Amino acid sequence: MRNKLKKAFQSLNGGLFEASDKADVGSSYTDLANDGVDLMGWADPFTPDFSLPEHVLNKAIETLKGPLAAHYTAPSGNEELKAVIAKRLKEKNHLDVDPQRNILITPGSDSGLFYAVFPFIEPGDEVLVPSPSYPNNFTNVTLNNGILVPILLKEENGYQLDIEEFEKHVTNKTKMVILTHPNNPTTTVYNRQSLEALSQFIIKHDLILVCDQAFEDFTYDHEMITPASLPGMFERTVTVFSASKGMGFSGFRVGFNVCSDVFMDAMLAATVSVLGATSTMAQISMIEAYQDSSFMKVFEEAFDRRRKKAYEIINSIPHVHMLLPESGFLCWVDVSELGNSNDIYQYLIKEAKVACNEGSFYGPGGEGHLRIVLGIYRDDEKVYDALYRIKDALSKYTQK
Ligand SMILES: Cc1ncc(COP(=O)(O)O)c(C=O)c1O
Repeated sequence: MRNKLKKAFQSLNGGLFEASDKADVGSSYTDLANDGVDLMGWADPFTPDFSLPEHVLNKAIETLKGPLAAHYTAPSGNEELKAVIAKRLKEKNHLDVDPQRNILITPGSDSGLFYAVFPFIEPGDEVLVPSPSYPNNFTNVTLNNGILVPILLKEENGYQLDIEEFEKHVTNKTKMVILTHPNNPTTTVYNRQSLEALSQFIIKHDLILVCDQAFEDFTYDHEMITPASLPGMFERTVTVFSASKGMGFSGFRVGFNVCSDVFMDAMLAATVSVLGATSTMAQISMIEAYQDSSFMKVFEEAFDRRRKKAYEIINSIPHVHMLLPESGFLCWVDVSELGNSNDIYQYLIKEAKVACNEGSFYGPGGEGHLRIVLGIYRDDEKVYDALYRIKDALSKYTQK
């Protein structure tokens, strides 16, 4: 009966009948935790430890005890939350939007991202996706019967965008560019030069930009520019946001999409049949979190310490290197001189008791790399201990 599925679905592997090494698929990954393996592959801040700030926890409990939690909000989201978000968008992202017309609250940015691509891609439309990048960028194109056109990012350019590469791949079928900014897995915060050149390219070829900014909250010493705020870009961009990474609310499932009246009108008309609505309790808790977001500073300081420590430990391993992470709590490690990254991924599970992510899941350019999530656990020392185990194991691998 598998052949009854649409072609794009036939090749998917959810880990139900055969093991999948992809970190967020199937049960094989969580089974590793039961064997005492540190899971450094889930981009979920401080997982599995408690991380909810006290005032948000109290608001969530108060909401659960009240009359609202069990009921729907409007499909587009809680009005007060949208007003708080609009204020933040103005201050942080230089986007001046009408909260009632340009913001759609989503049950997390994964659904937001799919929903940003879905209204645009018809069979045969080509979509340019810088690679390596977030695997859902690739799946969202193929699930919509679009044609994926990866644009290779290069370490020697600091993984910044090379618009000449985009120009080489654009055709009269190109419809969209999907950008993960800051990028996951490379952590690159695209700089002004990259983004201005990209916006000119998009306008010149009359394309749509879907820009996923799930990791925008911690960009350390790098300027975070929202492409939709650049001249001529708001009307052709859908920007996707998340509360999962910067606030550590992945389990609450809240994100939001921001776009022009024209796109939002069509999305809103379909929202009730596609996304339904986002958890009422989670949305009310988010208002509280935005009203006092000082806890994010504590998160940022921890991730900043960890990225610097990881840079020092990983770069002290012979034949292995990484760039200093520019954002968030990931690191992208080049192990290509040691051998095949899938072998190394498997070896680290056995030898170092650490499961990270195998680079090839992040598309062309990913092979030969590992993604390591530095954001896990509250305690820095547990993360450093796992990194030292990786170092010891990879040093032996070199000697082999
Ligand atoms: C780049 C990027 N975008 C979106 C998501 C989805 O996050 P959520 O659905 O929790 O908002 C993730 C999660 O790992 C991500 O890494």
